[in-house]
Amino acid sequence: MVDTEEFARGYTLANHAQYNAGMFLLGKLEITPGLRVLDVGCGPGDLTAQIAELVGETGCVIGIDPSKERIAIAIGERTGPNISFQLGIAEDLSQFPSSSFDVVFVNSTLHWVQDQPAAIMEFGRVLKPRGRLGISGASGDFVAAHERIKADVLSRDPYLMYPEQSPPKFLKKLELEGLLDKAGFHERDILGKSIIKSAKDADAMLDWLNASSSGKTYGGIPLELQPRAREEMRHEWEKLMTKDGIQMEMHILVTVAIMTSIV
Ligand SMILES: C[S@@+](CC[C@H](N)C(=O)[O-])C[C@H]1O[C@@H](n2cnc3c(N)ncnc32)[C@H](O)[C@@H]1O
Repeated sequence: MVDTEEFARGYTLANHAQYNAGMFLLGKLEITPGLRVLDVGCGPGDLTAQIAELVGETGCVIGIDPSKERIAIAIGERTGPNISFQLGIAEDLSQFPSSSFDVVFVNSTLHWVQDQPAAIMEFGRVLKPRGRLGISGASGDFVAAHERIKADVLSRDPYLMYPEQSPPKFLKKLELEGLLDKAGFHERDILGKSIIKSAKDADAMLDWLNASSSGKTYGGIPLELQPRAREEMRHEWEKLMTKDGIQMEMHILVTVAIMTSIV
């Protein structure tokens, strides 16, 4: 994972879209005092801190993330007796015993997880029977402008010589349902929702994309080509500029699933 402290701090300043989506998911999960929650892909911990408020002194939340930069910020800034952070990935939760959480929370993260079937099986394993899994993230049934612009620019010469090693994968609703079925989440509600990401201009949109993706806006291209690719991307974003800045439509899938069978 190529991350930097600058991306990690930039994310906390610009993550309103992800934060609002996460708060919406938290509302659906009905987290109450005393619960034990795992926040997978917690980043710098903004939403983990909200979960700590909900579970109160009698509960606890653990945030995990593969980025040491994001975990360092979370550990430094989100302290309390009921909140903790560790390095970790969704695909391997072996540091946690089976049936040890009431809720697993996964916000704006699943598309970065390379082995999504393994991750969803792990969510099922660490949840208690009838524990709740909450997942929110962009839907693979809709292509948002940022995906279109990235694909368009990076398919040009010379960038196409450098394919992205671990590209994001946005699951379609049917694909997600198949993975949930296999992992034993037979009771579930998946809501499709349209959200708008606003940015004042093309640069602000590119900065948000880069902070959110730990620098993966430029796929696999070498550092020295990135300023050139950014110019080309900026040119595409400027075509979407209005007098109120840029408004990008995104479709997200908001899932609450119950662990109904032990796998
Ligand atoms: C857009 S951020 C979302 C952070 C936070 N959940 C939020 O909603 O603000 C995506 C996060 O996924 C993390 N991530 C990437 N690959 C992951 C994996 N395999 N397992 C868990 N988290 C991962 C990244 O480091 C990053 O912090």
